[in-house]
Amino acid sequence: MSEKMLEIIDVHKTFNPGTVNEKTALNGVNLTINEGDFITVIGGNGAGKSTLLNAIAGVWPIDSGIISIDGKIVAGLPTHKRAPFIGRVFQDPMTGTAATMQIEENMALAYRRGKFRTPFKVGVTRKERELFKEKLQILDLGLEDRLTAKVGLLSGGQRQALTLLMATLQSPKILLLDEHTAALDPKTAEKVLTATEKVVSKANLTTLMITHNMKDAIAHGNRLIMMNEGKIILDISGEEKKNLTVKDLLEKFNVASGEEFASDKALLA
Ligand SMILES: Nc1ncnc2c1ncn2[C@@H]1O[C@H](COP(=O)(O)OP(=O)(O)OP(=O)(O)O)[C@@H](O)[C@H]1O
Ligand SMILES: [Mg+2]
Repeated sequence: MSEKMLEIIDVHKTFNPGTVNEKTALNGVNLTINEGDFITVIGGNGAGKSTLLNAIAGVWPIDSGIISIDGKIVAGLPTHKRAPFIGRVFQDPMTGTAATMQIEENMALAYRRGKFRTPFKVGVTRKERELFKEKLQILDLGLEDRLTAKVGLLSGGQRQALTLLMATLQSPKILLLDEHTAALDPKTAEKVLTATEKVVSKANLTTLMITHNMKDAIAHGNRLIMMNEGKIILDISGEEKKNLTVKDLLEKFNVASGEEFASDKALLA
């Protein structure tokens, strides 16, 4: 499978232009992503990682360049119009799900998004329930037996895994994960990452996953990119990626950026 899913050509984005707060967050980003690629994204604070994902999701217009998803240029398409083909998960386990609603109700909302005008006139159907059970089994967290439990009762990790599943229910063309395990303890983060692997590979989802953890960036996905000052300064895949070590990455960063990475503790966590 080598069909292009996402193409980013010379994309620029400067926030607050012409003011003292002017900040160029994307400074000529080029990236071609094939269908089924699972790319981990690393880089220091302020490197432009979240901005890149926001540009893809259409949070605001880019200043220049081209972004096309599955062959369609998405310029001018606002977030809600891109939502059916983009799944997103953020850092905070409290966002992305409704605490006072049941697991199956949350899933029904995500599943029906954009399909029905009044989703809760119809209760969760038997067919939907079967589908949700099947999907929850992939996570391997026992949630398939707790369909009617209120989401507020779940742990942060269970909630993040559920959010991830909900983000993929409509089979998005691209899944964007912005440090979705960063707020979890290491053991729980590992579980959610394992669940992520399963969900992504089961549906062969094209995925971009930002992480501050270099070990995770190396262990997951088939490709790794590193950003610095609004640019992609490293793009590693195949055998080279498989054989990477954290030490390699630090060295490569130092060479590619001309800066010292070692002082950035967050990246070594
Ligand atoms: N909406 C915005 N308005 C103004 N400045 C912004 C906005 N979004 C991002 N920036 C700035 O753009 C730069 C890149 O930010 P971005 O959030 O992409 O970094 P990041 O690589 O995700 O960093 P972190 O690892 O800290 O999350 C930063 O200087 C940030 O302050
Ligand atoms: Mg960020």
